[in-house]
Amino acid sequence: MSQAGSVEREESATDGGSGRNSPSPSVYSYHSSVDGNVMLRDIHGRTFNNTSDQYMLPADVAEHGRLDLQHEMLKKKRGGLFYAPQAVKKALAPREGSQPSILDVGSGSGSWVIEMGRRFPHAEVVGLDLAPANLSSTPPPNCRFECDDANLGLLHHKGCFDVVNASCVTQGITNYRKFMGEVVEVLRPGGVFLTVAGDLQIHDENHNMLPLIDEGEPGFTYTLRLIHAIRDAMRARGPGVDAIPKIYDWLQDQGEVWESIGQKILYIPLGPWEVDSRSSPPDRNISHANYFISELMRQDFVRLIQSVRPLLLSYGWFDETVDKWSAGAQDEIKILKNKYYIRVSPTGVT
Ligand SMILES: C[S@@+](CC[C@H](N)C(=O)[O-])C[C@H]1O[C@@H](n2cnc3c(N)ncnc32)[C@H](O)[C@@H]1O
Repeated sequence: MSQAGSVEREESATDGGSGRNSPSPSVYSYHSSVDGNVMLRDIHGRTFNNTSDQYMLPADVAEHGRLDLQHEMLKKKRGGLFYAPQAVKKALAPREGSQPSILDVGSGSGSWVIEMGRRFPHAEVVGLDLAPANLSSTPPPNCRFECDDANLGLLHHKGCFDVVNASCVTQGITNYRKFMGEVVEVLRPGGVFLTVAGDLQIHDENHNMLPLIDEGEPGFTYTLRLIHAIRDAMRARGPGVDAIPKIYDWLQDQGEVWESIGQKILYIPLGPWEVDSRSSPPDRNISHANYFISELMRQDFVRLIQSVRPLLLSYGWFDETVDKWSAGAQDEIKILKNKYYIRVSPTGVT
C-alpha cells in the first residue's frame, strides 16, 4: 500500500503498544466440539455454515478435503503460498514494536493459515470464516481462527494487519467493492492484499470462454451444462460470482492507496488432456508439475460436483436432473472427453 494512503491508518493503529493484533476479535473464537452444532446446519445431506444464505458450499470434512486439494493445486501453479513474494516478505519482516500479522478472509480448511504460520513463525496469523475449519494438522501457536461473516464489516480490525488474503471467497461477499475498501482500512502502511479467484467458467483450447450449449446441439457437454447451472444458482444467492472478473479493475479504481497492482491469468487444464492429445509417451510435452496440477484440477472439479448438489437442489432443479448432469460431467472428465481449461487469477496489491 502506498504511503500516501497511510496517514489515517498510522494514527488508528490499535494494538495499544502491546504488539498483539486485532484486540477485539471479530465475533468468536470457537471450540469446534462445543460450538459446531450452533454454527452448522444440514441441507440435503451435507453440512453448511449457519450464518450466510449467500455462500452455499458445504463446510464439512469432504469439502475441506476438496479445499486442501485446491490449495495444493494453487500452490503448485502459483509457485508458492502467495503471489508477490517480495512484497509479502517485506511486509512481514520482523520488526520492533508490533508483531507482523496476517488475516485470511474465508480461510476454509485452514491450510493456508497453518502453512503461513509455519513459514512466518514470528507473525500472528488469523483465519476468519463463516464456519469452523476441519483442520488437517495441528496449527502452530501463532495461528488462530475466528468465526465471522466478512459482510458484517472488518473495521474492528482497522490498522491491524500487514497482509490480507482472500482466496476463492468472492462468491460469499455481498459487496466486493465495499469489502476492498475495508481491506484498505484493515491493512497497515506497506500492507499487501492478496486475492485468488477462479471464475467458474469453462474455456476451450484457445482460452475462449464457452457459452451454454443446449442439450442436443453440437458442442453440448454435461460439464458445460453443469457449470452454467452452478453459476445461475450462485447468482440467485448474491452478486459475488459476477464480481470475479471485475476485481482487477476495481483495485485500479481505488487509485493511489495502492503502490502497485499485479495479476496473473492462469489457465489450468481440467484433467491432464494436454498429455493425452499431444504426445506419446505422455510426458514428452508436459512437465511432471503441469501433469500433476491438471490432475489435481480434475480431482477438485469432480469433488466440486458433489459439493454443489445441495445448491442446485435448493435452486429448484430436480434430483434426477442434477444426478444426470453430475454423472455425465464426471464421465466426461474421467475419460478426458473435452479439452477444457479453468481460468484462475491470483492478484497481489501493495
Ligand atoms: C471456496 S472456499 C475457499 C477457502 C480457502 N480460502 C481456499 O482458498 O482454500 C470459500 C470460503 O470462504 C468462506 N466464506 C464465504 N463467504 C464468507 C464471508 N462472507 N465471511 C467469511 N467467510 C466466508 C466459506 O465459508 C469458505 O470456507
